[in-house]
Amino acid sequence: MGAILGLGMTHVPLLAGRDQDMSRILRRVLQDPDLPERYRRPEGWPEAMRREWGADEGLAAAARHRDALLAWCRKTRRALDDFAPDVVVVWGDDQYENFKEDVIPPFCVLAYEAIEHRPWAEARWPNVWDEPKDATFVYKGHRPAAKRLASGLLESGFDVSYAYRPLHHPLGHAFMNTLLFLDYDRQGFPYPVIPFQVNCYGRRVIAQHGTMGALAGMSDEERLDPPSPPPWRCFDLGRAAARVLADSPWRVALIASSSWSHAFLTPKHHLLHPDVTADRAMYETLRKGDYDAWRATPLAAIEDSGQQEMLNWMCLAGAMAELGRRPSETTFIESWIFNSNKVFAMFPA
Ligand SMILES: [Fe+2]
Repeated sequence: MGAILGLGMTHVPLLAGRDQDMSRILRRVLQDPDLPERYRRPEGWPEAMRREWGADEGLAAAARHRDALLAWCRKTRRALDDFAPDVVVVWGDDQYENFKEDVIPPFCVLAYEAIEHRPWAEARWPNVWDEPKDATFVYKGHRPAAKRLASGLLESGFDVSYAYRPLHHPLGHAFMNTLLFLDYDRQGFPYPVIPFQVNCYGRRVIAQHGTMGALAGMSDEERLDPPSPPPWRCFDLGRAAARVLADSPWRVALIASSSWSHAFLTPKHHLLHPDVTADRAMYETLRKGDYDAWRATPLAAIEDSGQQEMLNWMCLAGAMAELGRRPSETTFIESWIFNSNKVFAMFPA
């Protein structure tokens, strides 16, 4: 009988960079020619955003944001070490990295034997560890567990894809950053990993290359792609995954990896800041274990609030609902200027 630990965390690329670059997404929006003039300066921003920006353009806030995130990354790592998993399954998005025009699977179990990646080879920003371009990270996969998971899901009626080797990219940043942040102190990451791709970016995955676009093109419906799987489907898939893995011989850590509302996916706020109100509301229902509210969230609401990446968390919520777990510990790390709010949650076995 398998044991399951549930964890929720972030893979925000800004944490892999330096404090002085942490507001780079906001700075780019401020240069967008289509940004209404009144939003170009702090005087036109919401009060909380202005306060976070402060007198030093967010530098002190970046250090505080990093401290808060690191405390929880380390805590999450400790929970993982205490649990001693046989395998770690990470639900993460692919932002036009491994999956491109030739195929966008709604869900894909990456059943690799091993993973080797040089995350800084083409990086445009210095990394906070000062690691060289050719720094290489190697992780173990877990083919038998990945095959069992994909088989169990298919037998339950979930038409998931699987892959034995990467297509365009060794390991997308959702997965890579998760592993880098769980090993922020570079002690090594010994656990075998199954990256489980969820097409979170849906209508913007190819149209926008799963990344930041200019304001001008954001509402051009014509150029958008078909949607992501709906929240309820991600939730039900998570439920089924928990059943399959609880019935396996392995100790499994299930990790949902993503920040919540993204400023660069929130046109209603001119891409300036995330939807803090919508995130807070989702957070409260998660804390209460009100999973029905999660499952009932329409995709349109998720897209309107720039919460596309929360579909990763939707899978975890389904799994925890299936196991009858409520989170034992959570935190909501709010940010108006560093693109997104970040949530951590633990659902111990
Ligand atoms: Fe992401």
